Amino acid sequence: MRIIAIAQQKGGVGKTTSTANIAAAIALRGQRVLAVDADPQGSLTLALGFDPNEVEVTIGDAMLSGLPVPTQPTQVPGLDLCPASRLLADTEFLLVPKTGRERFMARALEEVRGDYDWVVIDSPPSLGLITINALVAAQALFVPVTPALLSAAGLRDLLQTIEEVRLGGLNPKLLLGGIFVTFADQRTIAAKRTEGELREDLGELVMNSTISRRIAHEYAAQAGLPVIMAEPNSTAAQEYRALVEEVLQRANK
Ligand SMILES: Nc1ncnc2c1ncn2[C@@H]1O[C@H](COP(=O)(O)OP(=O)(O)OP(=O)(O)O)[C@@H](O)[C@H]1O
Ligand SMILES: [Mg+2]
Repeated sequence: MRIIAIAQQKGGVGKTTSTANIAAAIALRGQRVLAVDADPQGSLTLALGFDPNEVEVTIGDAMLSGLPVPTQPTQVPGLDLCPASRLLADTEFLLVPKTGRERFMARALEEVRGDYDWVVIDSPPSLGLITINALVAAQALFVPVTPALLSAAGLRDLLQTIEEVRLGGLNPKLLLGGIFVTFADQRTIAAKRTEGELREDLGELVMNSTISRRIAHEYAAQAGLPVIMAEPNSTAAQEYRALVEEVLQRANK
């Protein structure tokens, strides 16, 4: 079982949309996949067609109470969801006084090792304990950035946290699988220039695939299906399939 996390402390950069599409694309390739909603906003739960308000058990319960990881099938064949709701906000808080508080998600996910080939974790827009838990559980991390955040400076806090997780010994093997650009607007020269600068700055870390701004993502989200499933022939879906090729290559390194 390979575990990948999608994280970035900045809000609204496409983490959830990317998690849903990456998880769905891997599942559609015939692998058993669990998508974990680790954000109390429950956006991934919503994006996969469920109402977070109706969710009673989350990854937080598996982390803190030793209950089994809650999973439910989605409309995407081969893809299960571990859903989230507001209740997950308590987990962050309850973890604080615990010894080894960074390792609870890793331990909870051990229980499903035999059930899935891949786990894809969607993180909240913060570098709090839930995100740290995701980074400790994961073998590889993928980071979406918008053109506005296209700089090493914009990624500084995240890169520093990754180093802390690695060097602090929490997860020495954590691989920064790649950084990819979302909400790209290919039409403007300025966008291309900043993207070029990022590539100069961060080199190989920047993935070749870019996700452009497409209304199809909004429609898909409203339909509770990743675009890769809702509109498989769209450019939006093609872009995510290309990204997933790269994710799989890089995560398997
Ligand atoms: N490539 C895209 N083109 C157009 N809209 C997009 C694209 N990617 C995501 N969106 C939309 O933008 C909004 C934010 O995206 P998303 O929820 O994936 O970001 P996020 O990083 O997970 O946000 P948060 O930090 O709040 O968790 C959503 O409404 C989503 O449908
Ligand atoms: Mg999100």
